[in-house]
Amino acid sequence: MRILVSGICGFVGSELALGLRRAGHEVCGFDNFSRPGSQLNQSRIEEAGIEFWRGDVREERDLEPARGIDWVIDAAANPSVLAGVDGKTSSKELLEHNLWGTVNLLELCKRENAGLILLSTSRVYSIGALCALPVAEENGAFVLRETSATAGPHGVTEEFSTAAPISLYGVSKLASEQIALEYGAAFGFPVWVDRCGVMAGAGQFGKPDQGIFSYWIHSWARRAPLKYIGFGGTGHQVRDCLHPEDLLALLLQQMAAGDRQASRIVNVGGGASSAMSLRQLSDWCAREFGPHDIAVDLSPRPFDLPWVVLDASRAEQEWQWKPRRTVDDICREIAQHAREHPEWLEVSRG
Ligand SMILES: NC(=O)c1ccc[n+]([C@@H]2O[C@H](COP(=O)([O-])OP(=O)(O)OC[C@H]3O[C@@H](n4cnc5c(N)ncnc54)[C@H](O)[C@@H]3O)[C@@H](O)[C@H]2O)c1
Repeated sequence: MRILVSGICGFVGSELALGLRRAGHEVCGFDNFSRPGSQLNQSRIEEAGIEFWRGDVREERDLEPARGIDWVIDAAANPSVLAGVDGKTSSKELLEHNLWGTVNLLELCKRENAGLILLSTSRVYSIGALCALPVAEENGAFVLRETSATAGPHGVTEEFSTAAPISLYGVSKLASEQIALEYGAAFGFPVWVDRCGVMAGAGQFGKPDQGIFSYWIHSWARRAPLKYIGFGGTGHQVRDCLHPEDLLALLLQQMAAGDRQASRIVNVGGGASSAMSLRQLSDWCAREFGPHDIAVDLSPRPFDLPWVVLDASRAEQEWQWKPRRTVDDICREIAQHAREHPEWLEVSRG
């Protein structure tokens, strides 16, 4: 198969592209290098025999080299939950990258009769409903106290509320999901929507608002300043994490599925067994690198959430998919990368 990956020099795009190439596929892709550090992946991509061109998903003419493709993996986005409101990118720009970019890829799929895999996000779920989940503290982490039809110890399901507000980033993805499914239905090409939880691994360009596992471990290794923000300065907020190689295993199945009937939208996350609070991540870092002082900032940050774990039971039932890498494997991989790349925080900051 010939597969186009947009945002191919990003953390997830590059890992998926290299994995697809290893699996024997012809891979091509483009990136506009808006993410600091992404340029470093160009040579890795090209050395693996992947066709690369510099391009912007907002520009239709930049998609023209993508001829004869069977699948598109949409991995080009501004993935920060603060995008559009942090003064670094405008709200309009965010929607142009994340929503209008997806529409351009859908037009490409229509022209090429190619399928689309949209890398969506747990950020499509309602901030109000997530903040209202009853949590208690246990072993330095928030845990869910009560189970409901859409949230339980395994995480939140695909039926969890998506009511606004969900952040501009979240809505750029939720709207992309709907438009992608409509294009697929109207023009008869397959669309799979994978709602990914926090992705993490070596080589991620971590920042405080995106790529938190990488940012935290690299900062700890360098003894760079870190702080617990909001939630009483406890660091009890919890996320599950997933390695892109585990995501790839699902994508390979979805692209080979033909006419198979399966849910078009699935949660794809590390789940409860890969969930960790910031406080627990600090404990992990202290064991790995020795002590480091963490500051406290009690003022809550917009869009911060106490507990987000994705229930990926549907992906497990329908695709027999389960992540193989544990949170410990992922942290170890990042720690090794941090030792080998002490400059990574500067690379990621741009
Ligand atoms: N990393 C996560 O935790 C996570 C979680 C859920 C979903 N996702 C989704 O996965 C995808 C990849 O995320 P990532 O973590 O690799 O982010 P990333 O920032 O590392 O990669 C995105 C890449 O897209 C490129 N890009 C951005 N706008 C572009 C444009 N207009 N034209 C061309 N290229 C453009 C960037 O330069 C970057 O290389 C995104 O769609 C993101 O929303 C990521």
